[in-house]
Amino acid sequence: MKLVQDPAEIAALAAGWRGQGLKIALVPTMGWFHAGHLALMRRARQSADRVVVSLFVNPIQFGPGEDLAAYPRDLQRDSELAAGVGVDVLYAPSATDMYPAGFQTTIHVAELGRGLCGASRPGHFDGVCTVVMKLLQQTQPHQAIFGEKDFQQLAVTRRMVRDLDLPVQIVSHPTVREASGLAMSSRNSYLTEGEKGQALCLYRAILFARAKVKGAAQPLSAALLCSEIERNISQVPGCVVDYVEIVDADSLERCETVNENSRLIMAIKVHERVRLIDNARLFYL
Ligand code: PAJ
Repeated sequence: MKLVQDPAEIAALAAGWRGQGLKIALVPTMGWFHAGHLALMRRARQSADRVVVSLFVNPIQFGPGEDLAAYPRDLQRDSELAAGVGVDVLYAPSATDMYPAGFQTTIHVAELGRGLCGASRPGHFDGVCTVVMKLLQQTQPHQAIFGEKDFQQLAVTRRMVRDLDLPVQIVSHPTVREASGLAMSSRNSYLTEGEKGQALCLYRAILFARAKVKGAAQPLSAALLCSEIERNISQVPGCVVDYVEIVDADSLERCETVNENSRLIMAIKVHERVRLIDNARLFYL
């Protein structure tokens, strides 16, 4: 596996591959790889001739007071993990190469980026879209792989690609969970084992909602189900709800009643330090 840090070098590599008719897949990440990231890389490996993984802790998607400085980083560890699943290039640009002095352009997906995490993290999705756009430009992939774990990010990215006619296919991958059901996240490394147990309230909420939906004789009120879930979560010590919503999986607009296209989507704060998100389909086949 090759480590590339220079944007011009990855662009030249990608142009060369394209010239040879090779299919390129990109997996954008912020590093500190776990089984979720590695699953995306394996998925990329299945469908492309060249797999590029970008590793960049993107400063412009973090708000003031968020965990940019504390975000876990270990290039050596991540290189070994990526090489182990057959990645061709780990692309890890510097912040000054990505955002040189004078940088001032932003991509803003107006509606899909406004609610849910966009409401609690103003500007977050502008930062995500802007960096994803740059990474797509630099690596020229045919495919880019994103996890369903960050469901709003996936929706916003798909919208940007459609709206700006970007010639790339966005491929989604299901959320990878620990054996306990906790969704894998780089931010889980901020939690003690005990706190991880408390964070399981997210997965329990998914199981609870699915059981309710399965047992329901008539369409369930989304608002009632959400308030039951909020109540359950707020009984767990250390867990505070940021939002619990049931939304249409495409528009991300609130559902009145739960239907086949409904998605439960949640964010909590654990011990005021760690923000965790999770989501799932409710009609589970
Ligand atoms: P990061 O949090 O590192 O996630 C990189 C990719 O891995 C995203 O597509 C995310 O949805 C996916 N992912 C994370 N946890 C997962 C899990 N448990 N199962 C499946 N996929 C999972 O998301 C970002 O970085 C950044 O916002 C980025 C898109 C790189 C832009 O900076």
